[in-house]
Amino acid sequence: MSIRVLFLGEIVGRPGIQTVKETLKTLRQEKQIDLVIANGEGATNGFGLGRAHSMQLLKLGIDVLTGGEKIYYKMDMVEFIAKNPSILRPANYPQQNPGRGVRYLTVKETKVCVINILGNADFPRTHLSNAFSLAQLLVDKAKEDGALALVQFHASPTAEKLSMGFMLDGKASAVIGTHTKVLSADATILKGGTAYITDNGRCGSQMSVGGFDKQVEIDKHISQVPARSFECWEDLKLVGVLVDIADDGKATSIETIQIPVEAKTDEKEQKDV
Ligand SMILES: [Fe+2]
Repeated sequence: MSIRVLFLGEIVGRPGIQTVKETLKTLRQEKQIDLVIANGEGATNGFGLGRAHSMQLLKLGIDVLTGGEKIYYKMDMVEFIAKNPSILRPANYPQQNPGRGVRYLTVKETKVCVINILGNADFPRTHLSNAFSLAQLLVDKAKEDGALALVQFHASPTAEKLSMGFMLDGKASAVIGTHTKVLSADATILKGGTAYITDNGRCGSQMSVGGFDKQVEIDKHISQVPARSFECWEDLKLVGVLVDIADDGKATSIETIQIPVEAKTDEKEQKDV
């Protein structure tokens, strides 16, 4: 049976959570979406994912939350991730780390394996096992287990993400890039039938620097003095890609979605999101 999967871009702060809250339930029904995977590692003020926000997002209709280099930023997640299989951390962290990097699910009688991998470049504070060799092993294992592999690759350079896409073409049903938080214009089905995009964008403010207030980010570049980033509420959108996968595990379509959401204007309402 074919399945339809929505991969949401990184959810940035309360504005990002608001876009999910306002749109996801209706979108799931209207588009007959079978599975929703979202990158949640910036949902708590843009830096990490707290336990309360993770529970809220799972209740709002996300089936699997994936992580990246910020997944352990909130202390309560370090404990909670070990207990909750719907929240993934990158599989290439040390094996004994809390949590897991792979989630098996059955969707409309189709066995699916969601794999979260972190790129090797540009994360100087991490000491990971090789993203490429591990991805290959995990995708092969999914196949042995009779599951479709959906890879969420959280990485920085476009070249690294493209290389992963081509390496897994024909092996994984989808390779979806996250982390850079800017929707790329290269959503495609690769020759072997793998749905691919370099970055599926961000849920939250589009008129911002990665979901953060523009002026603070500009000032940081000029002064080079560290300053706290602030969530931005301008031009909110739910952003991601919708992927259809046939019975044989080959993707048949990939489409980007961008749904505008009106921002809460009241400061108290914004805090209540
Ligand atoms: Fe990241």
